[in-house]
Amino acid sequence: MAGERRRRGGDGPRERPRERLRDRDRDRDPKLRQQQKPPRGSGRGRTALALTAAAAALALGLAAAVAEWKRWSEASRLVTPHPAPPAVPPGSTGPLASPAYFWGTYRPHVYFGMKTRSPRAVVTGLMWLQHGSNLRHASEQNDGVSRYGWLMHDGENFGVQEIRDEGLVLRTEFVKQPGGDHGGDWSWRVTVKTEGKGPAPLLSLFFYVATDGQGTLRPVLENGTRLAAVAGTAEELGDFTLTFLPPTGEGGEGPKYASYNFLAAGVPGLHRLTDLVRQSLRESSVFSPPGRPRRRFFGVSGAGGLPGEPPRGQLLLHQVTLEPPAVLEVTLESGSAAGARRGRLAGPALSAALARHAAAFERRFEDTFGLEARGASLPQRRFAQAALSEMLGGIGFLPRPGFHLLLLGRWDPALARDILAHWLDLLNADGWIPREQILGEEARARVPAEFVLQHSETANPPTLLLALERLLPDAPLPYLRRLFPRLRAWFEWLNRTQAGPEPFTFRWRGRDPPTPSAS
Ligand SMILES: *[C@@H]1O[C@H](CO)[C@@H](O)[C@H](O)[C@H]1NC(C)=O
Ligand SMILES: *[C@@H]1O[C@H](CO)[C@@H](O)[C@H](O)[C@H]1NC(C)=O
Repeated sequence: MAGERRRRGGDGPRERPRERLRDRDRDRDPKLRQQQKPPRGSGRGRTALALTAAAAALALGLAAAVAEWKRWSEASRLVTPHPAPPAVPPGSTGPLASPAYFWGTYRPHVYFGMKTRSPRAVVTGLMWLQHGSNLRHASEQNDGVSRYGWLMHDGENFGVQEIRDEGLVLRTEFVKQPGGDHGGDWSWRVTVKTEGKGPAPLLSLFFYVATDGQGTLRPVLENGTRLAAVAGTAEELGDFTLTFLPPTGEGGEGPKYASYNFLAAGVPGLHRLTDLVRQSLRESSVFSPPGRPRRRFFGVSGAGGLPGEPPRGQLLLHQVTLEPPAVLEVTLESGSAAGARRGRLAGPALSAALARHAAAFERRFEDTFGLEARGASLPQRRFAQAALSEMLGGIGFLPRPGFHLLLLGRWDPALARDILAHWLDLLNADGWIPREQILGEEARARVPAEFVLQHSETANPPTLLLALERLLPDAPLPYLRRLFPRLRAWFEWLNRTQAGPEPFTFRWRGRDPPTPSAS
């Protein structure tokens, strides 16, 4: 499963990155939805095509026009959604209807980041730079990061990740707290330390928030240099405040000496964030702790941007430069949760919340899988927890359901059924579902163009049947009613197109016989 949070790069066809946004993002994003499945009978498109066809008829004669029309109508059927009512009822995925899943680590291509389940969502994330090494943000093959992965992740409220990067150990933790009408609050804690001896290199951590075509962000500066907070507002998310707390020592003691830089820039698209930050770095900042030698480092400078690329959104970035070990905390407070909040979820309150969630995770893990009861050792249980957590933390990949849903169905059957319904809503008029979903600019930027296009003769391997067998018996009746017409259409398509040479046999046509196996 760890392989699913795959790095970019690789050397063989099976190593290609398959980064995807979760199905519901695509489903909720009107722009993406249009690309995936244009609205039925889109009037303007039809008129334009009819005019094109008429012009072609005049110029080339009737036969050519008929061939063109036939090609168009076949192509348009492929992108026509199935007429059954949606399996995911409209309005069921927003922050009011489904607050628990509104914020999540739905950006599995970055080492650490969160976003909302909204069209053109606000995104938050972390980059870091050990001075003398490279900027880290999205996971890349062979980038020197030797290990990273969720040790615990409950798929909803809490997660703990560990990253090992050339002698640096980063622990990234998050906790969500419900309240208000916009998905509630969350807090992050990033703990950094170094392994081995020798002087620690200077480390910069970059915490950022960015918009994508909607929403506004306003910097709140302290002493003109430290980005202490960002006041923002966005569709679905409402008003929110992101606060960057001053770093402390490892045991939470005292403020720790640090240098601060900040960046406010226009973003041409979320897939350009790393380049934008890289190009804003200048080796002109100075780290000068009292009584110690001054050191120059790369700091982001002023109001940057990528020349020639018109901005679609805003980026506000807080750079903290320090010597590890240190603990850094970030809180997001939702405007509408103010009444429910009993103080900021930071420091000792955050430690207590993290401990509570970790204990609840351990209990639920044992209740669900019973590994301890069956004699599994602690390292074995930790390994199993990490495997589950990597799947839950990489949930953006589930558009290809099957085996994943078997596991998820044991941990969180309601979430598994939700994902299944989103998946079936991708059905076209023929009953076909494109096999891979590479949705949104961030995801598309990481997948070679030849793998983005989907072929209508390629079926998803019917592993979905395994998930159905597990998830449907306990499903509520209204859910089954919504699903049934789509399941029937999907089955009929499979039954028609994947039939084997003998009656009642099947052959998957996902791979051409002459294709050599890559493994
Ligand atoms: C900002 O200025 C105040 C007052 O001069 C000072 O106490 C504080 O430490 C400064 N904060 C930073 C981050 O430099
Ligand atoms: C599946 O295909 C077979 C062979 O074409 C056909 O006899 C059968 O009725 C089909 N089943 C359904 C449920 O469509």
